[in-house]
Amino acid sequence: MAVGLAVAAAVVLTGYSDDGGLPADPVVERGRQVVEACTVCHAIARQDPPRVGPPLWGIVDAPKARTNGFGYSAALAAADGTWDAASLDAFLRDPQGYLPGTAMVFDGIADDRDRASAIAYLRTQAPR
Ligand code: HEC
Repeated sequence: MAVGLAVAAAVVLTGYSDDGGLPADPVVERGRQVVEACTVCHAIARQDPPRVGPPLWGIVDAPKARTNGFGYSAALAAADGTWDAASLDAFLRDPQGYLPGTAMVFDGIADDRDRASAIAYLRTQAPR
C-alpha cells in the first residue's frame, strides 16, 4: 500500500506531458487568432512572402519603419523610436489617431485584451 502511494505520488510530481512540446499559452493562442486579421496585408512568419504592408517578423521592440525599400507613408517614415508594447498598443487601437497620415487602412482593435494578446503573439514571432 505504501509503495503504491509512493509510485502514484512520483507520477503526479513528474507530470507527464503527451504533446511532446510546450503547453499552448491561451493568451498567445488568442493573439494568433486576432493577428489573422492582419495577414491580408502583413507577412508574419520569417518565411512568408511580403504583402501590401511591411513584414512583422520580430516587430516587437524593432525600430519603426525598419524595412529598407518598403514604401512607407511620410508619417511613418518620420516616426521616431521603436515598436515597444506601449506604442504598438496605441497604434493598433487607433492607427490614424496614433499616426495621422499612416497608410495602414485598418480600423483598429477596440478590445484591450485582444490588443494585448496580439502583441503577446507577435512577440513569439521573432528569433529566440
Ligand atoms: C489593409 C491592410 C492592413 C491591415 C489589415 C493591417 N495593416 Fe499594418 N500596415 C499596413 C500598411 C500599408 C503599413 C505601412 C503604413 C505606413 O507606411 O504608414 C502598415 C504598418 C504596420 C506596422 C508598422 C511596421 C513598421 O515597419 O514600422 C505595424 C507594427 C503594423 N502595421 C501592424 C499591424 C497589425 C498587428 C495588424 C493587425 C491587427 C495590421 N497591421 C493590419 C497595412 C495593414
